[in-house]
Amino acid sequence: MLLLPLAASFLTLSGFAQAQTSTATATYKPQFTVPASADYGANLIPNILDPEAVDAQTVCPGYTASDVSQNDYGFTALLTLAGEACNVYGNDIETLNLTVAYQNADRLSINISPAVIDASNSSWYVLPDELIPRPTADDDAASTIANNDFDVSWDNEPSFAFTVKRRSTGDVVFSTAGSKLVYEDQFIEFVTAMPENYNVYGLGEHIHNLRLGNNYTATLYAADVGDPIDYNIYGSHPFYLDTRYFSKDNATGNVTLVTDTDGADATAEYESYSHGVFLRNAHGQEVLLRAENITWRTLGGSIDLFFFDGPTQVDVTKQFQFGAVGLPAMQQYFTFGYHQCRWGYANWSMLEELINDFARFEIPLETVWVDIDYMDQYRDWTTDANTFPVPEGQEFMKTLHDKGLHFVPIVDSAIYIPNPDNASDAYATYTRGHEADVFLKNPDGSEYIGSVWPGYTVFPDWHANESVSWWSDEMVRWHGEIPFDGIWIDMSEVSSFCVGSCGSGNLSLNPVHPPFALPGEPGNLVLDYPEGFNLTNATEAAAAASASSSQAAAASSTAASTTQAYLHTTPTPGQRNVNHPPYVINNVQGDLAVHAVSPNATHNDGVQEYDVHNLFGHQILNATYQGLLDVFPGKRPFIIGRSTFAGSGKWAGHWGGDNASKFAYMYFSISQALSFSLFGIPMFGVDTCGFNGNTDEELCSRWMQLSAFFPFYRNHNTLSARAQEPYRWASVAEATKTAMAVRYALLPYLYTLFHAAHTTGSTVMRALAWEFPSEPALAALETQFLLGPSVLVAPVLAPNASSVDAVFPGLSSGTRWFDWYTHAEVAAEPGKNTTLAAPLGHIPVFVRGGSVLPLQAPALTTRDARKSAWDVLIALDNSGAATGSLYLDDGESVSPSETLDVAFAVSGGRLSVSVTDGGFRDGNALGDVLVLGLEGRPAGGVFVQGKEVEDAKVVWDEGAGALRVGGVGEVLGSEAWMGGWVLEWR
Ligand code: NOJ
Repeated sequence: MLLLPLAASFLTLSGFAQAQTSTATATYKPQFTVPASADYGANLIPNILDPEAVDAQTVCPGYTASDVSQNDYGFTALLTLAGEACNVYGNDIETLNLTVAYQNADRLSINISPAVIDASNSSWYVLPDELIPRPTADDDAASTIANNDFDVSWDNEPSFAFTVKRRSTGDVVFSTAGSKLVYEDQFIEFVTAMPENYNVYGLGEHIHNLRLGNNYTATLYAADVGDPIDYNIYGSHPFYLDTRYFSKDNATGNVTLVTDTDGADATAEYESYSHGVFLRNAHGQEVLLRAENITWRTLGGSIDLFFFDGPTQVDVTKQFQFGAVGLPAMQQYFTFGYHQCRWGYANWSMLEELINDFARFEIPLETVWVDIDYMDQYRDWTTDANTFPVPEGQEFMKTLHDKGLHFVPIVDSAIYIPNPDNASDAYATYTRGHEADVFLKNPDGSEYIGSVWPGYTVFPDWHANESVSWWSDEMVRWHGEIPFDGIWIDMSEVSSFCVGSCGSGNLSLNPVHPPFALPGEPGNLVLDYPEGFNLTNATEAAAAASASSSQAAAASSTAASTTQAYLHTTPTPGQRNVNHPPYVINNVQGDLAVHAVSPNATHNDGVQEYDVHNLFGHQILNATYQGLLDVFPGKRPFIIGRSTFAGSGKWAGHWGGDNASKFAYMYFSISQALSFSLFGIPMFGVDTCGFNGNTDEELCSRWMQLSAFFPFYRNHNTLSARAQEPYRWASVAEATKTAMAVRYALLPYLYTLFHAAHTTGSTVMRALAWEFPSEPALAALETQFLLGPSVLVAPVLAPNASSVDAVFPGLSSGTRWFDWYTHAEVAAEPGKNTTLAAPLGHIPVFVRGGSVLPLQAPALTTRDARKSAWDVLIALDNSGAATGSLYLDDGESVSPSETLDVAFAVSGGRLSVSVTDGGFRDGNALGDVLVLGLEGRPAGGVFVQGKEVEDAKVVWDEGAGALRVGGVGEVLGSEAWMGGWVLEWR
C-alpha cells in the first residue's frame, strides 16, 4: 500500500471509519499514532548499487574438493577452503560436504552444506525438512537415473567448480567454472556461466517482464509493498526456467544456439530445450542476471540445487511441481466464478446493495469479499458490532448462500494485543494464543510486539507446537458466527509497520493508529488516475493533478532527511549480525526490519526470523488450509494468500497484491500470472481495474475483460478510491458481460484444466512460447497468452486504442486459429503481427484448430451455469482432426468419490465421445455441436448415433465455414455424458 508519514501531530482522531464514505456510526476515542519514524531503518546502500562494495570473487579463495566417493546415485566429496578465509560478508565455513545425486529420470540434486551440522556450535542455519520438504531420490531411482539427461563433472583448477551438461545435446546448462564458490554463515555466492541472450523466466516474486533479460537483479525477500516494478514484493520463488533454442543445419546436422530470438525466421525450423533450476533456500537472496552469467547470492542456508531436465517447459513445470514442491490444490468449482471486493464495504447493507446491483444489471457475481472494514477494530476473528452485527450477518449469509453466492473475508497475519490498563479491551483470540504460547518472541523471551492495522500486535509463531491448532480453533469458532466460504490471508510477509518490537512497554497506548495516513485520510487522498485520463477527462485530470502535487509537496516537507552516512557492517568472528548483515540485498524497503517483523525476532525453537522470514506467508497458508479442513471436513479449502513460497500452491492461490489503476499494471498482470504458472500457483489473478489510485471507464473496461481469462477473477479497490464495480459505467457493464459470457461458457474447460494441473502439474495460463516451443520469436512475448492449450487471448493493454497487434503461433506448421465470436478462421501470416479490431468492449479471443471444447451456458452463478445444457465446440485442425477432454465431479470434495471423464476425438468427419464413468452424474442434456473449419457444407447430412438430424436443425454458416447442429440431445435421448456417442457429418 501507499505509505505516507502523518504530519507533525501524533495524536489524531482515528480516521479509519471516517475516511470512508461509510454509514459507520462507530466513534473512537482519541488515538495515539505510531510515529512515522518508528518505521525508519538504518540507511543502507545495497551492494549491487555500492561502487565501493567488495566483489567476493576477487578476495575469496574458493574451495578444493577431496575424498571423492562414487555411489549408486552420484558422488560425494569434501570441499575445503582453498586458502585463507576471506570473511567478506560473514564467516567463511572451512569444510563443506558436496553431494551430487541423480534422484530419478529427470531430477538432479547438487547439495553443498556445512560439513559439521552442530546447531549448538555453529552460526549458520540450514533449512530443515520440516519447513520445506527436501526432494529425495525416488524409490526406484537406481533403475531410472540412467535416463537422466544431465551429466555432472567437477574440477579443482583453479578452485572447485562443477558443470552440468545435457547429455543428449552436450549443451552446458550450468557451470561454475571460472568462478569461486563463496560459502559463509551470512553469505553464499555461486556463479554460472550463461549463453548469450539467454531466456530465463521465474525468480519471483516481481513485477517485471516475463523473460527476465540479462540486466536484472531479482531480489527475493518477502515485502509488504504496493507493487513497485522490478523490486522484491510479497513472495519468494527461487526457481527459474531456462529455454534454449537451436537452429539445425539439415545438411550437416549441426545445431546452433539462437542468440537473437526476436530476429528468428518464422518459417524456419527450430528446436528448443528447457530445463529448470530450483534453489531450496529460504533466506533473503538475490539473483544477478547479467550478460554472461547468473550470480546467486543468499544471506545464509545452503546450496541446495535441483535441476529438472525437461526437455520442454511442460516437462520442467511438471517435474518441478510433481517432484519437488507439490501439485497445486484443486479448487472448488465456485471459485472460478466472479469475485467482487473492495476496501470500504462498510456494513452488511452495502453488501446487500452490491448483490442487488449485480442482479439488477444482470452481471454474474459469485463471491462477495470483505476487507478489514468488517472487523471489530481490525481484530481477526471478530465483527464490528455496529456495522457488521452477527445476527444480521447470519441472515445476510443465509440469503447469500440461498442465492448460490459465497462470502470470503480477509484475515490478517498479526494479532492485536490488548491494552493491559483497559479491562474492556480484552481480546480472546490473543488470550487463547498467549496461553498456548504461540507468538513470536524477542531474544529475551518476551512477546515480540509490532504494529499493524489494529494497533500494537503480536505474530503467530508457526514453529510453536500449538500454533496451527490455535489458529484452526479460532477459525472454527468464528465460522460458528459467520459462515464464510474461504479465507483471504493478508499482510503475511510478515508485515509490521515499525522496526523492532515497538509495542514493548507501550501497550497502554493501544489501540494505536498506524504510522501513516490511510487512503482517504488527510495527506493521503487518492488523486491518481490511469494513463490517458488526461485526454478523456481533461478537466477532472487537471484538478486531480494539481491537488496531487500539493499533497506531494506537503509530504516532502515532512519527509525524513536521508543525508546520513550509509551503515556498513563487517563480520564478527563466530557471530552473525542478523539485523544488519554485512551483505546488503537490494530489498525494496532497505533495512530488512523496515515494515516487517525484525530479523532478530525469535521462534519457539530458537530459530531467528532472519533465517525463515520468507516462509511466514507459506506457513500461515498451511495453517489456514488445516483450519479450513477442520471447518469443512472433506471440502477443498479455498484460500487466496499474499505471501507465498515455492510449494504454496498446494494450499492456496495468490493475488498480485496492491497494483495500481494503471494500464502498466494491467500489462504486467500477464507476466505475473505466467510466472505463477511456473511456480505451481495456477490460481492467480490481480486486482482488476487496479487497487491503488482511481480507475477510469476505459481501463476498467479493458481490465474486466482481460481478467475474465485469468483463473482467479476478482475486482478489488483501495479505501476511498472511486468505486469500480463493473456496473458503475454502462460501457464497462456491457464489456464485462461480454467477456464473462465467454468465461462462463468455458467454465467446464477451466475446471478440467485445473484438475489436470492438480493431478499432473500442467499449467492453466500459458505463455505462447510454452505451447509452441519451436518458435524462438515467442520467447519474450508477454502481451498475449493461452488459457490451456486451446484458447488464445490477445487483449488491448494500452489506452486510447481501438485495435491490437497480435501474433498467431504455429501457422508455419499448419496451426489454424478461429475467432471465438465470428467462428471464422483467422487469416494471418507466420511471424507477422496481425492488426485486430478491438474497440472498447471487445477482447479478441481465438480457438486453436484441433480442439474440442465442452461448453455450458453462461448464468449469473456457477451453480446455475452448471445446470445448463452442454454444447460442444469443435475447431478442426488442418487434417480435419481435433481432441479435447472434460472432467467433472461434485465441485467441492477433496477426494471426490464420484467423477466423470469424457474424451472427445474428431477425425474424418466423425466426433467420438467416450465416457469413463466414475459414478458422477451431471444430469444435463446436450444442446448444440458446432464445427469450425469445414471447407463446405456436408452434403450427406449429419448423424447422431447413426440417426440423421433433421435438416431444420443443421445450420450452415457459409461465411465462417461453420456448422451448427442443434438439438443433438433430443436425438441422443439421454443426458450428454451417460455413455459414449458418435456424431458424423458426411
Ligand atoms: C493490503 C492488501 O494487499 C489489500 O488488498 C487490502 O485491501 C489492504 N491490505 C487492507 O486490508
